[in-house]
Amino acid sequence: MYEKGGRITREGIRIHEPGDFAGMHVAGRVVARILDDIAEHVFPGQTTAEIDRIITAMVAAHGATSATIGYRGYQHASCISVNHVVCHGIPGAKALKDGDILNIDVTVIVDGWFGDSSRMYVAGNLSRKAERLIQVTHDALMKGIEAVRPGNTFGDIGHAIQAFVEAHRMSVVRDFCGHGLGRVFHAPPNVLHYGRPGREAVLEEGMFFTIEPMVNLGRPETKVLADDWTAVTRDKSLSAQFEHSVGVTANGADVFTLSPAGKFHPTWG
Ligand code: MF3
Ligand code: CO
Ligand code: CO
Repeated sequence: MYEKGGRITREGIRIHEPGDFAGMHVAGRVVARILDDIAEHVFPGQTTAEIDRIITAMVAAHGATSATIGYRGYQHASCISVNHVVCHGIPGAKALKDGDILNIDVTVIVDGWFGDSSRMYVAGNLSRKAERLIQVTHDALMKGIEAVRPGNTFGDIGHAIQAFVEAHRMSVVRDFCGHGLGRVFHAPPNVLHYGRPGREAVLEEGMFFTIEPMVNLGRPETKVLADDWTAVTRDKSLSAQFEHSVGVTANGADVFTLSPAGKFHPTWG
């Protein structure tokens, strides 16, 4: 039973038990394997619907369950967000073009534990400006993860990300955030990717959550399209995102969704 063991903070954040990390590692590894293995299926001419079909098959092959199929009416095993799409892009029949950049976001459930991660991919050749955006977004996630340790606050994480991104003259999306997870998909807290040092809840060993900054080359504002899912930049500027699921340990972060093949970044592996 989920209610058994652990405790909930005043802010509603679950403190998991040491034995709970193992389940998160298994779920995180499955999603990381899928994100590794999908890379070779991203190329100009490929459709995002076909990528999603392959991901659906991979989820089943791992004996896992998709957390997104049936979630609030969503019908796909992935969100695929191309170019100026910030997040929650719906896979479809449109083919990728040379130079398109895309985020693929997959969440699986394994033995009741949720693994949630996303990365950037490129179809064909990466432009210099897209490469710069992807690098800053990746490094911003890592700055956030470096701020994870007991005694730090969620404001410290958000500040580390925001300060880094804005120093590179890019903007952090405010309209979407990371989230607690574990035996549920979206739990407290809202993990903001901006903020002030020392603000928000204090991190404690045993908290599990995602950090998933979305960074725009232009302004931070977004809008959701008529399909009720697809979020795009209002100014049509390029957007990128990386997401890891992490747990707080005695000295830092335990990243559950590390790439087994070392392919987390599109120019690696
Ligand atoms: N995986 C996304 C997240 O990082 C949520 C996707 S919900 C969906 O929280 F329904 F759009 F798939
Ligand atoms: Co998430
Ligand atoms: Co996700």
